[in-house]
Formats: sequence, structure tokens, C-alpha cells
Amino acid sequence: MDKFVITGGRPLHGEIPVSGSKNSALPALAASLLTEETVVLHHIPRVRDIRTMQRLLVDIGASVDAEGDAVRITAAQVISPEAPYELVKTMRASSLVLGPLLARAGRARVSLPGGCAIGARPINLHLAGLEQLGAAIEQSHGYVEATAPHGLRGARVRFDRITVTGAEDLMMAAVLARGETILENAAREPEVTDLAELLVKMGARIEGAGSSTIRIEGVEKLYGAEHTIIRDRIEAGTFLIAGAITGGDLTVTGCPVEHLSALLDKLRQAGVEVRTEPHAATVRAPGRLRSIDMTTQEYPGFATDLQAQYMALMTQAEGIAIISETIFENRFMHALELARMGANIRIDGRNALVAGPSRLTGAGVIASDLRASASLVLAALCATGETVIDRVYHIDRGYEKIEEKLARAGALIQRVE
Ligand code: EPZ
Repeated sequence: MDKFVITGGRPLHGEIPVSGSKNSALPALAASLLTEETVVLHHIPRVRDIRTMQRLLVDIGASVDAEGDAVRITAAQVISPEAPYELVKTMRASSLVLGPLLARAGRARVSLPGGCAIGARPINLHLAGLEQLGAAIEQSHGYVEATAPHGLRGARVRFDRITVTGAEDLMMAAVLARGETILENAAREPEVTDLAELLVKMGARIEGAGSSTIRIEGVEKLYGAEHTIIRDRIEAGTFLIAGAITGGDLTVTGCPVEHLSALLDKLRQAGVEVRTEPHAATVRAPGRLRSIDMTTQEYPGFATDLQAQYMALMTQAEGIAIISETIFENRFMHALELARMGANIRIDGRNALVAGPSRLTGAGVIASDLRASASLVLAALCATGETVIDRVYHIDRGYEKIEEKLARAGALIQRVE
């Protein structure tokens, strides 16, 4: 298993580029199952979760050709409408094939995702929505069997709580359903909007994506299309925090500034100098950072996927920051590892109290999930001495060549086997 060895204390300078969004690319790949024609996607990040999704599409019957950051998918036939446990257990987003398979083939068999490092993460809302569209759902032997032999029909679906992949799954099911579907209390994340843009290019009729009510008028058939995935706001945010935590002067290029308002506001309040251009953001950190409370929320609120990284930053700020996690019930695993490096953090239910500034020192730490690993990298970059981060396969799930990108900006980071 690979590890990162990081020697901290070097301010980051220069430029770091942002890749395409993993969480936008995953549903886009799944959407290619909705047509027998070829879908070409650009800006697909070369990360492990994407490779897993590509494997799943091939198992289902699609041909997938990747060249650079472009991927061509042709699902001429659906041979096996199934997402097996072996893949779902490594990537929960495999359940995104449920909606498209049901719409295209009238049948889907998808392993139920088990527990996860950050919370229970059930897919009950996906299933309830699909039932409202007329699917019959049965669960046995750890699998969901969904069938709609006579096709799906449009319906009004109100989500009990906001779910990102739930909205994506339902949108993909509804595009080929008979009649109109209205999704209420839908997720407004930019990844949902990006998927809607792709589906519209494929011939779907969708209005309101990006708002909490999405209207979909089902069509007979979808066609091939070409689409460029949006840039990864979470990767971009991670690098902006890297610039700030190391006291550097760093420009993040290809930065989706318009999707990062909540983070940029917090950085400014904490005293970081932030300059933005249409596709780039530059951070310059002051000598001292201020502690600023933060609560995670659905978009356009502060992303839960940046909470761990923000916590690393707050270990360097003056005062006490209260960080509240409202999306997932168990997303503070990084706090214990940060404490091993010298951070002063107390967990109280869904709140973490971070008192700073703390002098962090390098240590051996273990990555527990994707974003937790990113926060450990950030802490290591500002710690004195050497940090060894074990289990970096978690970070490889969602960050493309992170060690090369950080090294180009002056970080001392090495991958060792
Ligand atoms: C997406 O996961 C992202 N994944 C996650 O990113 C992200 O953390 C999350 O949205 C929240 O922004 C992808 O886009 C592939 P949810 P998703 O359904 O869709 C509960 C990362 O690090 N819920 O919006 O699975 C759920 O338990 C990953 O890149 C139900 O109760 O998240 C959670 O508490 C991690 N029933 C809340 O809703 C359901 O059927 C929001 O989850 C579905 C969700």
C-alpha cells in the first residue's frame, strides 16, 4: 500500500491546476447508459473512482475508450444490468447506474452499499423516488432488484431530505419516463446542474436544474453527445486551503470560483487575502489567521467535502472555531489524527471545537476516507518535520496526481510503496 512522506514547513508558491470534477464525471459516465449512441466526455479526472465506474460500465456491456482526459462510451447494448457488490463496496456512487438502467433496460440489480467511514449513507430516497416513477423494488441477499417492465411514468417526487446522487439518479430515470416528473426539494449542487446540461445535449427535456424544483418531460429516446465536465470545486478548495495553511502565495488555475463562494467567504473572514479572476483564484496568507466558525450545508452552503480540510486550517488560527457537520453523522475521523499531530480539538456530537494556533509536528497518521486524507496532507504541509500518511489509496479515489501538483508548487511530498 502506498504512503505519502511529507516534510512540512514550506510555503506553496506558483500555480496549481484543477482537474475535472469527480462527482460530476461519475453521474455523467452513468448517463451514457441511457443511449445506444456514443457519448464523449472531456475533463474526466484520472482517479480511482472513475476507473471503478468505467469498469462497471464495461461489465454492463458498454465499450469505454479513454484518451488523455477524454472518455468515449458506447453502450450499444445493455448485457448485464447489474452493479455487483465487489464494485459497490469500493465505491458507493455505483448506485448511480440504478436510474439509467431502469430507464433503458427496464431492470436493474444493484448491490446495497454497506456502512461507510463517514456515516450510514442509505439509498432509501433513491428507491422511494423510483417507486413513485412506477418501479417495483425488492431487496434480498444484499441487492436491490428494480423492475419496470412497462416503462417508468412521470410523477411528482418530493425528497424528504436533500440528496445529491438521489436527485441525479431520479433525473436519469425520469428522462425516458412517460410524461412529466417534478423533483421537489432537489439538490442544487453544481454537479446536478452539469448532469442536466449533458442530458439536455443528449435530447432530454429538463428545466430548473440548479434550483430546488426540477421539471423533466420524458422523451422517447436519447442520443449521443459531447460534453466538458465542470472543474472540481472540492479539489480547488483543497489547494486554496493548502496555499493559506502554508502561508504561501498560490494561484489555483481552472478554479470554479462561482462554485466556491462559501469557502472564499470563510477564508477572507479568517484573514486570508483572496483574489479571484473568472477561472483562477489566488490566496496569500497573513502572518496570523483568525478562527471562524463554520457549519456544513447543502449547496450553496459550505460543502461537507471541504470540512476536514477547513478543520486543518483552523488548527493554525487564533481562537476557538466551532465546526458543525450537519450532512453526515460521523465525519470527524480526521480530528483524532490531527490531534496526534498536535492539534487541540474536542468533539462534542456534531460539533468540533478547534482551539488554535497549535504547533503541528510530523507523525505517522492513517487516512480514513477521501477528504480526511486531504486534511492530513494539509496538516503535514504546515507541520514541522516529517509526516508519513498511510493508506493513501483513499486520496487516490478523488485527487488526480495530488503529490505531483503540490510538488510543483514547492511542497516536499513523496509517494513511497
Ligand atoms: C454526494 O454523495 C457526494 N458523492 C459526496 O462526496 C458528498 O459528500 C455528498 O454528496 C454531500 O454533498 C458524489 O457525488 C458521488 P447525499 P451522496 O445523498 O449523494 C442522507 C466525496 O468525498 N441520505 O447528498 O451519497 C445521507 O446519509 C463524497 O467526494 C439518506 O438518508 O450524498 C446524508 O446524510 C463523499 N437517504 C445526506 O442524506 C438517501 O437515500 C446527504 O447525502 C440518500 C441520502
